[in-house]
Amino acid sequence: MGWIDLHCHPLPGIDDGARTAEDGAALLAGLHGLGFETVVATPHVRSGVWDNRLESRAAAHALLEAMLAEARRRGETLPALLLAGEHMFDDVFHDLLRKGEALTYPGGGAALVEFAYDSIPMRVELQLWRMAKTVRPVLAHPERYTPVQQSDDKLDELVGAGAWLLLDLMSLVGAYGRRAQAAAERILAAGKYTAACSDAHKASDVPVVAQGIAALRAAKGEAEVRRLLIDGPAKILAAAGRA
Ligand SMILES: [Fe+2]
Repeated sequence: MGWIDLHCHPLPGIDDGARTAEDGAALLAGLHGLGFETVVATPHVRSGVWDNRLESRAAAHALLEAMLAEARRRGETLPALLLAGEHMFDDVFHDLLRKGEALTYPGGGAALVEFAYDSIPMRVELQLWRMAKTVRPVLAHPERYTPVQQSDDKLDELVGAGAWLLLDLMSLVGAYGRRAQAAAERILAAGKYTAACSDAHKASDVPVVAQGIAALRAAKGEAEVRRLLIDGPAKILAAAGRA
């Protein structure tokens, strides 16, 4: 089984990821070149900035799929493309979740969420714990949040509340600064990540993702690469929704 990327921004024109379908196809081709056989498109859902819903995602997906079909006809090999979303963990998200309209992972039992970098919402543990009863929160790039960088206790509270941690591979090579890199190395050493991802926004991110995978392999070995890029992601994709 090939690698699975749970977090990527190839859908054109709906967030700060790919601008065009060509850009999105180039990003996917690059990730396939690294060894990713499945990529989950996770456009941002951020109120007042990128108010993405099922409809806008479907429209961007249609544009990209048309481009991918053309590339496949030319003989290019591309990863399988699945759909989810990267939700800001706010009231809008909780409302969408209640209505069954959140952009969850395909199994419906897990959803990718993010916080603002410099703060984590008040009483977040309680909210995560409540959410995890029905849909498991998958926390994007925990190493990038200032409170997590400052204290292991914060991270342990999030995990204790039911969050699954998703490593951004580019953090391991300093793409988001030294503090995020140090936090990523610490969380990795402690074995607390459930899975790893590219969070790639453009084709030029692909070489940095490759460096991140090399750093992961150097730090923890091939078995951990497989756990974070195959077993962990497969578990998240297979998580089924509970009413
Ligand atoms: Fe992202």
